[in-house]
Amino acid sequence: MVGRGCLRWLGCPQTLLSSDPSPARQGTYDLVVQQLIPGYASLARLSVALLSSSPLASCQDATVLVAGCGTGAELLEADAQRPDWHLTAIDPSAEMLAVARQRLQNRGRIEWHHATVEQLGAEARFDGALSVLVLQSLPDDGTKLAFLSALARSLRPQGQLVLVDLMRPERSPLSAQVAEAWRCFQRASGVDGEAVDLTAQIQGFHPIGIARLTALAEAAGLSDPAPFFQALDFQGFLLQRRA
Ligand SMILES: C[S@@+](CC[C@H](N)C(=O)[O-])C[C@H]1O[C@@H](n2cnc3c(N)ncnc32)[C@H](O)[C@@H]1O
Repeated sequence: MVGRGCLRWLGCPQTLLSSDPSPARQGTYDLVVQQLIPGYASLARLSVALLSSSPLASCQDATVLVAGCGTGAELLEADAQRPDWHLTAIDPSAEMLAVARQRLQNRGRIEWHHATVEQLGAEARFDGALSVLVLQSLPDDGTKLAFLSALARSLRPQGQLVLVDLMRPERSPLSAQVAEAWRCFQRASGVDGEAVDLTAQIQGFHPIGIARLTALAEAAGLSDPAPFFQALDFQGFLLQRRA
């Protein structure tokens, strides 16, 4: 059972990870996130497969940025599907980065950065980028735009970005039932019934609607987002840097 310690799961809280990531702790974030997000287990696989079929990243030895690599889910999948890719992994959390580095220690071709994407300052360097569950934690006060702009600038023209995030839901008379289904999913996945407080779980996150995401993408120099995944309010989009 996962208890109250998992409540701030989406932001990758330090409570889930010690500064010395033991094997027991390595899997904690991944276990919790799978119990809370329907489809998470196949999300990295799908995201990598999508980027792998893009015009630039489909080429041999493509350069790919994994923004907010966390504990390494997308890196492991990229390494399995595309061992030829040159990966750059970046995350401002030393704890998350330490877990990812430990899990990928025997894999080559990974450049590690303990920083934000904005700090990386890469210009037109990557054929593709992955950003899974990162934008949602950034406030929409210029911070989201700065993140998306840095990602867009880091891509070569026509390079593609796979973006997955918690989105703000459209209001519907059936919304309460959908929320209840999320609670049921979590309990069925082993989350302690007391811990299933959706308001607490998404506290501190800044989900936006599709219209706002489209406007931010436009301002950042990216195409309109093309949807490719949805489970509850978690949505995946494919975007392309404008030429
Ligand atoms: C919810 S975790 C997702 C990790 C991983 N992508 C996954 O799907 O499991 C979000 C990660 O984004 C990182 N992050 C937050 N702001 C960032 C930024 N501006 N640039 C890069 N990474 C960032 C956090 O430190 C955290 O490790």
